[in-house]
Amino acid sequence: MTELEAIQARHSVRKYTEAPIEEAKVAIINNEIGKINALTGSHVQLVLDEPKAFSSGVLKYGQFSGVRNYLVMAAHKGKEAEENIGYHGERLVLLAQTLGLNTCWVGLTYKKIPGAFSLAEGEVVHCVIALGHGVNQGVAHTLKPIEKFYEADRAVPDWFKAGIEAAILAPTAVNQQKFKFILKDGDKVEAKTTFSVAGYTNIDLGIVKCHFELGAGKDNFKWA
Ligand SMILES: Cc1cc2nc3c(=O)[nH]c(=O)nc-3n(C[C@H](O)[C@H](O)[C@H](O)COP(=O)(O)O)c2cc1C
Repeated sequence: MTELEAIQARHSVRKYTEAPIEEAKVAIINNEIGKINALTGSHVQLVLDEPKAFSSGVLKYGQFSGVRNYLVMAAHKGKEAEENIGYHGERLVLLAQTLGLNTCWVGLTYKKIPGAFSLAEGEVVHCVIALGHGVNQGVAHTLKPIEKFYEADRAVPDWFKAGIEAAILAPTAVNQQKFKFILKDGDKVEAKTTFSVAGYTNIDLGIVKCHFELGAGKDNFKWA
């Protein structure tokens, strides 16, 4: 499965089987995490076989069950760190999909378990990503017309359209999709957030930029 096929196949999955993540897949994911942390200064960590973050006793959080593995998306605070968490977290989500695993970004409905991960001075957990073998493959969210997600003063080129088509398949917090891509002169593209009451827009922006690049083809444009 290619990353583009993974974009089509991925949906948030909230129910997982007890099957552990295979050692070879853990090694591939950890190798990628090492590169991301070195490149961005983030502190992404893979937590395996730890059921407490998603077992809330009487409270049933956001329909999750069977989550024993998750990525801790830790980094410093700030817009740039948040966008990096979104961009690189989504690369890990798509990698997981190509490995036959399922995922769900989670901003609210989990507990931070002391000892399961570590934070350096000044770092925070921005969110986690549930990871494992899904009981199902999730459900596609309803797609809105692509015209809602861009501004352009000329007919849009095919690569731009393909970028938006990939971006609207991306996960966003509460499916808010508060983003817009603006086609500029010289095949430059600006990506921006729009007003949200739910927050998480900088993480969402990183996620949709990851999808846009894969859909449009990195060589066809430059970020403005
Ligand atoms: C930053 C972020 C935070 C999220 N937080 C939660 C959460 O706390 N609980 C939950 O059930 N889903 C959460 N989601 C998943 C979204 O609800 C989901 O991506 C969206 O509804 C679109 O559905 P899809 O991922 O299946 O395409 C989150 C997604 C993102 C990107």
